[in-house]
Order: sequence, then structure tokens, then C-alpha cells
Amino acid sequence: MFARTAARALAAPSSRLFSSSASRLTKVAVLGAGGGIGQPLSLLLKSDPLVTSLSLYDIRGAPGVAADVSHVDTGSEVTGYAADQLDQALEGVEVVVIPAGVPRKPGMTRDDLFNTNASIVRDLAASVARVSPDAHILVISNPVNSTVPIVAATLEKAGVFNPAHVFGVTTLDVVRAARFLAGVSGVSPSETVVPVVGGHSGPTIVPLLSQTKYGKSLTGEVYDKLVHRIQYGGDEVVKAKDGAGSATLSMAYAGAKFANALLRGLNGEKGVVTPTFVKSPLFADQGIDFFSSLVELGPNGVEKIHPIGELSAEEQKLLEGCLPELKKNIEKGKAFVA
Ligand code: NAI
Repeated sequence: MFARTAARALAAPSSRLFSSSASRLTKVAVLGAGGGIGQPLSLLLKSDPLVTSLSLYDIRGAPGVAADVSHVDTGSEVTGYAADQLDQALEGVEVVVIPAGVPRKPGMTRDDLFNTNASIVRDLAASVARVSPDAHILVISNPVNSTVPIVAATLEKAGVFNPAHVFGVTTLDVVRAARFLAGVSGVSPSETVVPVVGGHSGPTIVPLLSQTKYGKSLTGEVYDKLVHRIQYGGDEVVKAKDGAGSATLSMAYAGAKFANALLRGLNGEKGVVTPTFVKSPLFADQGIDFFSSLVELGPNGVEKIHPIGELSAEEQKLLEGCLPELKKNIEKGKAFVA
């Protein structure tokens, strides 16, 4: 992760998580910056050379996080905003990352968070619509399958919805899939990147192992266990934290990784392709108008939504399990705003 010599290590930010080829001014806001995800995510965004200004907001604690993070010796300016300063936090922002809301406790599904998080996300999206309507919005708050449709419907109501600008962050599923497949295959995770499609909750998470070099030959119990671990990896963390929340550090890593991919796309880098949950035509004929598949990111946000490609018989079954649940989750989000 760090450069070999001390001098280079101090001068150069992590080259593994972030890459940057060009740069322009980019102001990024984190809403929920005081939380378990928000704090390490703010730190990682401070290390991203493509972020030039960082705006940290929370209903509690953001000025403290900002003061702390602002001492890191990278170029970006950091400002913290208190509970009553949301509009100021969003002024001139191009990318808004939302990890605000409550996390799971043992025994809870992501859908159990709906009642609390739906209104938090709706209200934050309404403010973004008013203050920075052109911003790209990265939704981390769960249940992502519902909170993304909530953000879209809220922006639509305000007359500013741009489907190329709203993303559900499913990167943690992609990160877990690469890590777990690497564990099974005995190679580096850089060689085991897996397209994960569908949504972001248990049965809606569909890893396409058949499309990967090391995953395509897996069968039987090894295959079943790996798929289950990718779908329910979040539960391992919730259980181990024993009531203290869900994934925060790996999620911050995943959030920063996706934000960097988007910023590279916005900067004009070609060929930035990663799964993300967006307004999608792929299954719209079945009434499912949000879906995660490989998406090319570019100067306008979503440049191109890739089809899911060829599936194995097992994956076809996983997809059949995903679609009805995803449809229910999306409809629940839409109904909340309507
Ligand atoms: P946390 O409870 O540690 O932090 C949440 C933060 O949101 C708190 O600082 C709280 O003050 C703040 N907040 C609450 N209402 C707010 C509002 N109206 N405006 C601004 N800030 C507000 O929770 P944690 O662990 O950081 O998780 C946050 C969310 O991320 C949860 O919904 C969790 O389920 C989700 N998550 C998503 C993942 C994904 O893969 N997309 C993975 C892991 C968690």
C-alpha cells in the first residue's frame, strides 16, 4: 500500500486504492461524516488526490472530524458543518456521498432499517435537489435497494432527477467477492475481480463467478459456500461486532474506491467500469427499473450500462431469486416518496 522509501511514502498517497491520471477541481460532501463509515471514509477521501475540497456534514460531530482530518498533508481543503448548516455544506458540491442513517444490529435485515433511514435519505436528497441539483449522489445508507429509488423519486419530485447522477454503492459486495474468491483460489485479489450484479441485500446480491478466470471452475460445496459468503458477508461483521454496528472500515474503503472511480470518469479517464446500482433498462420490462450491473463511468456520470452477459445455470437461479425481492424493495422506496 505504501511506497518503498520513507520519503516517497510521505509524499505519495496510497497508489493501490486511488489512481489519478488527470485532475480538475472537485468538491465532495460526506453526509453522515461523524459516523462509523463517515469518519474513515472522510479520511480516505482526504487522501484522494482527485478530491480538492471536502465538505463534512452530520447532525453531530462533523466539525470535530473535519478539524482532525484537515491536518492530513494532502492538497484538499476540509470544512466541517454543524446540524443546522446542511445548505452551506452542499454549496458548489459536485459529488455527495451519503452514509447517514442507522446500521444493523445482530438479527436485523437491511430492510429492517427502512423506517429510520428512508426519511433521513429523503430529506438529505431534497436538500441536494435544492442546493446542488447537478451533483452526483452516492448512496451508501441501507437498504440501498430502496434508498436509491427514494433519492431518485425525491429528485424527480423536485424536477431535477438525472439518472446518470444517482448511484447505489454496491462496491463492498465487489470488494468482498474479490477477497473471498482470492482466499479460495490462493491468488491475489487483483486477479479475482468478480462482476456482482442485482442489488445490495442477501438474495439480491448475484456474483457472476462463471465470468471469472478463477471462479468459473468452482462447483459443489465450494461454489455454494462462496456464493453464500459473498451474499451474507455483511452478517459476519454484524455478528462479530455484537451489537456495535455493521461494516464500517471495509465499507469506507469500498466507498472511497467507488468515489475515486467516479472522479476518474468525471475527469475524462476512459474505460472506468465497475458495478453500481443505477436506474437501468436491463429489467425495466419486468417493472425493475433499478439494477446493478457493470457501468462505465465518464464525464457525465453513467456513460454506459453493460448487459449482465452470459449466466451459468446456477447464476440464472440466483437471478430468479434476486428479481422478485429487488422489485419489492424498489416499490417500497417509491411508495414511500409517493
Ligand atoms: P453510524 O450510526 O455509525 O453513523 C451514521 C451517522 O449518520 C451518525 O453519525 C449520525 O449522526 C448520522 N446521521 C443520522 N441522521 C442524519 C442526518 N439526517 N443527516 C446527517 N447525518 C445523519 O452508522 P454506520 O455504521 O456509519 O452506517 C451508516 C449506514 O450505512 C447504515 O445505514 C448502514 O446500514 C449502511 N451501510 C451500507 C453498506 C453498503 O454496502 N452500502 C455497508 C455497511 C453499512
